[in-house]
Amino acid sequence: MPSSSPVQMITDYAIRADPYPSFAELRRTPVVRDDSGVHLVTTYWEIRNLLHDPRISSDARNLAPGTQPQLSVGDDEALPPSFIRLDPPEHDRLRRLAMRPFGPPHSPRRIHDMHGELVRIVTGLLDGLGGEDRFDVVDDFAYPFPVAVICQLLGVPRDDEPHFRRMVDAVVAGLSPAEDAAEQRRSVQQGRLELGQYLAGLIEEHRRHPGDDMLSAWVTDEGPEGRMSLVELISTAVLLLIAGHETTVNLITNGVLTLLRQPAALQRLREHPLTVADTVEELLRYEPPVQILPQRTTLADIEVAGTIIPKGAQIWLLLAAGNRDPERFPDPDRFDPARPDNQHLGFGFGVHACFGAPLARLEAQVALTEITRRLREPQLVEDPPPYRPSPVLRGPRHLPITCTAIAPPA
Ligand code: HEM
Repeated sequence: MPSSSPVQMITDYAIRADPYPSFAELRRTPVVRDDSGVHLVTTYWEIRNLLHDPRISSDARNLAPGTQPQLSVGDDEALPPSFIRLDPPEHDRLRRLAMRPFGPPHSPRRIHDMHGELVRIVTGLLDGLGGEDRFDVVDDFAYPFPVAVICQLLGVPRDDEPHFRRMVDAVVAGLSPAEDAAEQRRSVQQGRLELGQYLAGLIEEHRRHPGDDMLSAWVTDEGPEGRMSLVELISTAVLLLIAGHETTVNLITNGVLTLLRQPAALQRLREHPLTVADTVEELLRYEPPVQILPQRTTLADIEVAGTIIPKGAQIWLLLAAGNRDPERFPDPDRFDPARPDNQHLGFGFGVHACFGAPLARLEAQVALTEITRRLREPQLVEDPPPYRPSPVLRGPRHLPITCTAIAPPA
């Protein structure tokens, strides 16, 4: 193992294209204490147990006094934390209210009924390539697709993307190591605040002219628990706008990259398109878009695999390391879309388990089905491709590929 600390090792950009050998090294010890005080948990069952453990908090206010959270998207006084950074019972109330226009029990068909619309958006993007024989999977496909979807769902104008992208980029930069941590914190807070102001304007518009979107539902819908307050609404909208596309872009791009590296898997998907759901689950295990959950802390001294983690310590749950734990997944470095019992950690578990998982799954299934069916002889131009800086939301920055033709839609 290099002489750097575990945190330095896994945040080092040099390993971004292939962090898995470093995770394998760390996994020799289920809990690794870094000099910075961060405890890294690397093995499947320990991570999964902690995700269900009520002695673990997602609220940064429970960190020991003086602890400066590392890799954080910021919770400033001006805009309180969204429910991903809160604990029950506050978390549960906000999640239930946010879920009302999105999923069961109040809106069980919402995502299911979007299938046709998702196919239409993907078809439009592939048609729009206009016979190009070389394109960037990220900029031309995997990014604009989930952005269009989350904008439509929330009721955010798609044309505002260049405007809010700058703010989203500033917030997400908090999930990458920085030379000047104080400056980074300031910029994350500024980005979050500006995004909140932008969404507050939209929320007001939707209050006056409600449509069939989630912002409108949140401001008009009166359920048994009432409505969110304005600041809760803004924090929730910021969370959904970011979580709704910054992760799915990586799942789709990692999917195209993995399939082009593994001709047998690509062929299997072409011949048996109904295996796409299994392919997406295996991608969530093999190349999870959220690699690390850095936002946990202990509410008491707890013992994990023989190590005492003291109260108030910062914990990083290394989902990507747990997903390749040979104690849980036989031959874990093999991409095997037919893998049985594939309960990966890609969407987390427990009270914070991904809210958008049904949508993310459907988006990735539609995107990979259409790409596989329509591109003739696709090939990677650069392997490995250039990666985005974050070790948390990991994925290629660009993925240039070539193909000999793009077949017409079905
Ligand atoms: C491939 C795409 C995605 C991946 C890999 C992913 C992964 C995750 C993970 C690992 C968590 C758990 C966080 C934690 O425990 O602290 C989470 C939570 C969350 N995700 Fe996703 N996500 C994806 C897509 C989406 C989408 C499309 C949306 C919105 C439509 C979304 C909304 C959320 C929200 C709101 C939470 C917080 C849930 C809570 O705290 O109760 N995600 N996601």
